[in-house]
Amino acid sequence: MRAQKQIAFVDMAAKQESFRDAAIAGLSQRRKSIPSRFLYDERGSALFERICELPEYYVTRTELAILGERAGEIASRLGPRCQLVEFGSGASVKVRSLLAALSEPQAYVPIDISREQLRDAAHDMARDFPDLDVVAVCADYSAPFTLPPLPPTGGGRRVGFFPGSTIGNFTPPEATSFLMGCRHLLGPGGGMLIGVDLKKDPAILNAAYDDSAGVTAAFILNLLERMNRELDADCDMNRFGFEAFYNPEMGRVELYIRSLVDQIVTVAGVRFGFTAGERIHAEYSYKFDLAEFRRLAEHAGYRSAACWTDAARLFSVHYLLAE
Ligand code: TRP
Repeated sequence: MRAQKQIAFVDMAAKQESFRDAAIAGLSQRRKSIPSRFLYDERGSALFERICELPEYYVTRTELAILGERAGEIASRLGPRCQLVEFGSGASVKVRSLLAALSEPQAYVPIDISREQLRDAAHDMARDFPDLDVVAVCADYSAPFTLPPLPPTGGGRRVGFFPGSTIGNFTPPEATSFLMGCRHLLGPGGGMLIGVDLKKDPAILNAAYDDSAGVTAAFILNLLERMNRELDADCDMNRFGFEAFYNPEMGRVELYIRSLVDQIVTVAGVRFGFTAGERIHAEYSYKFDLAEFRRLAEHAGYRSAACWTDAARLFSVHYLLAE
C-alpha cells in the first residue's frame, strides 16, 4: 500500500491590499478603476459561476471540451510523475480530466485567493485522487514572488496550469511578466498549460461579455454593492449602469461601470465626484491570434510545444516549455 498522502495548506494572503485601500486609491485616479480581483467576493464568485454557464459565454464549455477530448494527448506531452500547479484554482473543476489522464501525477498545488473555496477544493481533490500530494496555497498569484517554494518534484516535470483565459485579464506586459515569474517559480524544464481565448467576430465577443440575462452586468455592478456592504458607501444602483464592448484596435473586451448622472458618492468616508457618462474600469479581457500568443510566450522565455483548439476556433489551449 502507498504511504498516506498528505494535504497541506499554506496561507500567504495575510498582507494583501484591503478592498478599502484599493477602492479609495482606484476612485482617486483621473481615470477611475478598481482592481478586478475584488469582483470575486462570495456573491461575485456565485455570479461568475453563473456566467460560466450562460449560453453566450462559450469560453468555459469550449475549454472544458478541449481539455476533455484532448486529455490523452495533453497528458503524454506533460509526461509521467508531473507536479501540477494551478494558478487561480477556484473549485478545481477544469484540472480533473487532466489529472485523471496523467500518468502517476505526483502533486497538485492549487493556488487561489479565496480561502474557503480553496480549502474545500483541496479536500475534495485529496479524496478523489488519493495518490496525490495536495499542497494548497492561499495567495494572490498575480504577485508571483509571494508564492512559497514548491514541494520537490518526484522526477517529473513541474507544469503550471492557467485556464479560463485569465491570462487575458492581464495587459500584455503584465502577462509577459507573469509568465516570466512562473518560469522562475517552476524552475528548469518547467511547462505551462494555458487557456487562451481567440480573436473572433466581435458580435460573439460582445454577447459573451454583455449577456441578455444581465448576469455579467450584475457581476460587475457587484463592485459597487460590495462597497455599500463593506465600506459604508452610498452608491445608488439606479444611478449606475454597465458597459462592455470589444475594442478591435486594442484586441480586448473592456468592461466598465458607468455613472448615469452627475453625482457624488461617499466610500469609507471619502467623497468622489462623477460626471454623467464617467466610467470606472473593472476588467479587460484580451483576445489573441495563435501566432500573437506564441510571440508573447517567446518574449517571456518559453517555446510553444503544442496547441489545441476547438473545430470552430473559438478557444485555444497552449502548452509552453521554459527555454
Ligand atoms: N477570464 C475570464 C474572461 O476574460 C473572466 C471573465 C469572464 C470576466 N466574464 C467576465 C471578467 C465578465 C469580468 C466580467 O473571459
